[in-house]
Amino acid sequence: MSKQRVLVKFSGEALAGESGYGVDTSILKFIAEEIKQLVDNGVEVGVVIGGGNIIRGVTAAKDGIIKRTSGDYMGMLATVINAVAMQEALEYLGMKVRVQSAIKMEQICETFIVRKAVRHLEKGRIVIFAAGTGNPFFTTDTAATLRAIEIGADMIIKATKVDGVYDKDPNKYNDARKLSQLSYDEALADNIKVMDDTSIALAKENNLPIVVCDMFKKGNLLSIIQGDYNRCSIVK
Ligand code: GTP
Repeated sequence: MSKQRVLVKFSGEALAGESGYGVDTSILKFIAEEIKQLVDNGVEVGVVIGGGNIIRGVTAAKDGIIKRTSGDYMGMLATVINAVAMQEALEYLGMKVRVQSAIKMEQICETFIVRKAVRHLEKGRIVIFAAGTGNPFFTTDTAATLRAIEIGADMIIKATKVDGVYDKDPNKYNDARKLSQLSYDEALADNIKVMDDTSIALAKENNLPIVVCDMFKKGNLLSIIQGDYNRCSIVK
């Protein structure tokens, strides 16, 4: 039986913890423990982490002083910082990790080469994909979806601050309803903000299931790969 392979996308913003900025090592350690459960169960794991705890391209460029393209490159650099931090936390727990960046920065990490990434995964190493797609105007969700497809992942897990997809914003509406399963077309609807349209379209075209779950629920990732979708939403 071939091994299960997943790509887990973590929110960068959530890494900041209480302080609201930078990298909280206790959160890094928590995430590393969650990933370790997958590795210990024989799952091949690719990881993408956002950069929102440090800088977001769109926000950096909001008053026009910083161009959007530069803002996005700043955001890509932020994801490299997070990737290096996560590499340390995973290695701290004894896992083998390689960071691959979409933008060449050879003193810091490897450059993204899909065939090499797949070999690393086959050897039981976690591969963290950094620097987004290497292009401005693409989100880290899109980068994660792209990498998931490239490495032939069985699913992408969007591990975030909410526990699934709602029919309307649960922070604004008390009667917001969690959807346990929805189609790609439903996920593209205006009121559903699960991922940006580019990532959903890419996932749809390649039949890649998207699972949305709460990254802070202990054991969530493992239960998902074991087929329990009760505490998340699935788009397929
Ligand atoms: P194998 O081919 O399976 O032996 O993979 P490997 O990753 O162990 O071998 P390699 O010799 O490619 O890498 C050894 C170490 O150097 C690993 O920790 C890599 O992450 C790191 N490494 C490889 N290429 C680069 C690079 O271009 N830049 C940086 N900074 N590190 C690299």
